[in-house]
Amino acid sequence: MSWSKETLIAAAREAAGKAYAPYSNFHVGAALGFADGSVVTGANVENASYGMTLCAETVAVGKALSEEWRGKLEAVAVIGGKAGAVGVGDPVTPCGRCRQMLHELAALGKNDPTVWCVGEDAVLELALSELLPRAFGPGALA
Ligand code: THU
Repeated sequence: MSWSKETLIAAAREAAGKAYAPYSNFHVGAALGFADGSVVTGANVENASYGMTLCAETVAVGKALSEEWRGKLEAVAVIGGKAGAVGVGDPVTPCGRCRQMLHELAALGKNDPTVWCVGEDAVLELALSELLPRAFGPGALA
């Protein structure tokens, strides 16, 4: 089992199709690609108490950590948009909290993963460290 940039983006797009986002109607999918070839996905999960919303990236990281993924996180794909228009318009970049969640997982596998933020006209490619420079992580508590 392995993934490529294209299949990771396709996995994120498929995950977005499973979003529970009745309040914003903005569907986001995230896919985590690990060095062992595995992929873990997540979609955003909203709540009638709006502030409790979980972003797609956070759901994916929670799934991975709770299933004991500790290996090298190599890449992350994120895609979003209004229902029926996922991937249309500008790329969706991970929110601040999600950057921190991704950093925790990345630090466990000692890597600075590539983050592909998928837009209509282009895929923005960034290192996680560019999205979250000088991050606070598990090393600070060691
Ligand atoms: N959202 C994500 O899932 N990931 C992001 O990086 C940005 C925002 C979700 C949260 C909420 O359900 C919806 O998008 C609108 O903010």
